[in-house]
Amino acid sequence: MLSYVIEGNNRIEGIVKASGSKNAALPIIATAILNPEPVTFYNIPDIEDTRITLKILKLLGCKVTVNSGKITISSKQMNNKTIPKELMHKLRSTVVLAGAILGRFKEATFSFPGGCNIGKRPIDLHLKAFKSLGVEIEEKEDYIHCRAKKELIGTKIKLDFPSVGATENIILASVYCKGVTHILNAAKEPEIQDLAKCLNKMGAKVYGAGTSRITICGVKKLHKADYKIMTDRIEVGTLLCSAAITKGKIKIENANPQHLLNVLYELKNIGCDISITQNSITLKAPKKLKGTNIETRPYPGFPTDMQPIIGAVLCKANGKSIIKENIFENRFKYAQDLKKMGADIIFDNDKNQIEIIGENHLQGNTVSSADLRGGAALVLAGLSASGTTIVENAEYILRGYENLEQKLKTLGANIKLCEKH
Ligand code: UD1
Repeated sequence: MLSYVIEGNNRIEGIVKASGSKNAALPIIATAILNPEPVTFYNIPDIEDTRITLKILKLLGCKVTVNSGKITISSKQMNNKTIPKELMHKLRSTVVLAGAILGRFKEATFSFPGGCNIGKRPIDLHLKAFKSLGVEIEEKEDYIHCRAKKELIGTKIKLDFPSVGATENIILASVYCKGVTHILNAAKEPEIQDLAKCLNKMGAKVYGAGTSRITICGVKKLHKADYKIMTDRIEVGTLLCSAAITKGKIKIENANPQHLLNVLYELKNIGCDISITQNSITLKAPKKLKGTNIETRPYPGFPTDMQPIIGAVLCKANGKSIIKENIFENRFKYAQDLKKMGADIIFDNDKNQIEIIGENHLQGNTVSSADLRGGAALVLAGLSASGTTIVENAEYILRGYENLEQKLKTLGANIKLCEKH
């Protein structure tokens, strides 16, 4: 087991470059399955989730060459259409590989995905959409077998909820469809726009990404291409919050402020001084943060992935805050650990919300990540706490943050990653 050991009470101050986006990297890596020509991606973060995804691609028969952030994949020889159960369970986003395999080969076998334990996370919308595209689905012995008789047939798919994964899966599955697929109530997240841009660079015809109506006109083939993926907006948000919680000052380069408007609005609202350029964000924390009320919503609303992070920050704010989680049912486990560190938090399970009371003094303690963003929230709490904080199960955090320890150290934190403690 790995733990972060943090000596707290250090201001975060300095300039840092953000990494490539985890949530964009995973579906973009899946495009390499769809495209038999070699593709090269830049800015892919070196994190556990991308390593597992690339491992699956190799097992499926793809040739993968990794060279510090540049990844070249050739799926010409790919012959395996089954995603092994053990790897599928490791992370949720493996499910988008299914849409890519299905799009390319008209058949795919996979199991129910795993990933962070933040809620039920079903894939019913994905499977329903595959069915609408003419795919027959059979569930047998832990595996889901999908097969189209001949081709996937473009159709109109209205999602009951703007699911990010389902929108990505439908796009991937429809790239070679016969005719046109329309996704209504599509997710509008920037990662979906990034996926569409990447596919279009390969010759696909995906229109409207970033709006709630996406149209995919089927093409016969894709061509060789390279693509640089977007910056990780959640990492940017997390680093901004590391300065907010420690009364520090940070400039993040490589950041796209347009992807974080709601988060920046809330940070401003609680008293932070924010300035932006086209590709950087600077935050200066006030002496005293103010409490606020936040609700998570699909993009462009406040992102659920930032909810635990802002939750940690609001523990240090003056006055009461209420955080309501509307996307996942089980995303407040970190708050129990914040209580262990001295935060005064009241849980309202019926409303899926917490109330954070006033300005809390946080005291270092041994706490444990229960999921990726919850773990990162505890690291931030540790930075601002007095004494030593040990965040156990750091493996969760390593799944999604590239070089977090080094980045925070450069910014003045006293943090190290240790095997056991
Ligand atoms: C993606 C992100 C994750 C982020 C989430 C919401 C990746 C790798 N992960 O996850 O970081 O927290 O978007 O912004 O990009 N749902 C169903 N049935 C389905 C699919 C989803 O009921 O078939 C529900 C989920 O249980 C959840 C909600 O829809 O309550 C949102 O899920 P979704 O947008 O699909 O999230 P992910 O794609 O899993």
